Amino acid sequence: MALLFASPDDDPIAWRAALTRRLPDLDVRIYPEIGDPAEIEAALVWLPPPGLLASLPNLRAIFSLGAGVDRLLEDPTLPAELPLCRMVDPSLTASMAEFVLLHVLRYHRDLDVYEAQQRRAEWRLVLPKPAAATVVGLMGLGELGAASAGLLARHGFTVRGWSRTRKAIEGVRCFAGPEELAAFLDGVGVLVCLLPLTPATRGILNAELFARLPRGARLVNLARGAHLVEQDLLDALDTGRLAHATLDVFVREPLPKEHPFWRHPKITVTPHAASYSLPESGAELVVENLRRLRDGRPLLHVVDRARGY
Ligand code: NAP
Ligand code: GLV
Repeated sequence: MALLFASPDDDPIAWRAALTRRLPDLDVRIYPEIGDPAEIEAALVWLPPPGLLASLPNLRAIFSLGAGVDRLLEDPTLPAELPLCRMVDPSLTASMAEFVLLHVLRYHRDLDVYEAQQRRAEWRLVLPKPAAATVVGLMGLGELGAASAGLLARHGFTVRGWSRTRKAIEGVRCFAGPEELAAFLDGVGVLVCLLPLTPATRGILNAELFARLPRGARLVNLARGAHLVEQDLLDALDTGRLAHATLDVFVREPLPKEHPFWRHPKITVTPHAASYSLPESGAELVVENLRRLRDGRPLLHVVDRARGY
């Protein structure tokens, strides 16, 4: 079977090695050197050029290298009848939970405050608080949100989570649905977004939501740029409604050089760096799904296209 690999960010050689170690007869074609398009039956992709997947006449399944499939679903030429599977992988989950813990610890220990003080050469101690004094709210309690919430709870933070359907996670107070969003936000000092981008979640990080947080709350958006209404964030930082924001994802990536986020003193920018799958780990799911495809068995982690995730 021939599989097309296309990603501007992932290491194609490492992925080919990880895949063929498990499936020696797999023919991995690395974009743009794809040979005869008619031979390709599966595609493993992250941000493929629009139209590429539609140009493969015998494609049978699409595997996303990313957990989020919003960019794939935005391509109007994406073959509608094919199964689209998203990435669920322990290395992706672990590196996201680590990144969440890093930023929550940073805010809990007031490093954003100290960085601002350093720019003014100001020596002023903020007495440390116990972890339980910091209330962290996770928007999204899926693979990544649930693991992050659990790690934060084990670290001693006071953790809340919000999802579409109700969850039960040890040490985490769980809220569900739009009717419980206000109660979830009330008292949250560090808000972390790990929602998929769908029509229901686009623009959810907006002025109305910020107004429900305690004054001086901090925001961490690791999901997608379009969850955030950018001007509402700038206004909230100007008025002190929010004290600081950490943004890993943006509507336009790479973030344009002239964008105000780059130089804003109350915003930390990272280049969509929160989490990626290690090939040796992520290949397990891809190979399992290739075997299932070959044997005609149901694939794992098929996206519900109507729901958008
Ligand atoms: P997932 O397992 O599909 O979980 C999504 C969670 O969001 C679920 O708990 C779901 O609730 C909840 N949700 C969806 N729509 C909602 C709504 N309208 N209201 C409330 N909750 C809603 O996804 P995941 O694997 O955790 O990934 C989450 C996102 O992280 C991805 O879609 C991607 O955008 C982002 N991501 C970013 C990076 C990075 O490097 N920055 C890396 C990986 C992923 P239910 O369970 O009740 O349906
Ligand atoms: C990265 O953003 C992903 O969706 O895995």
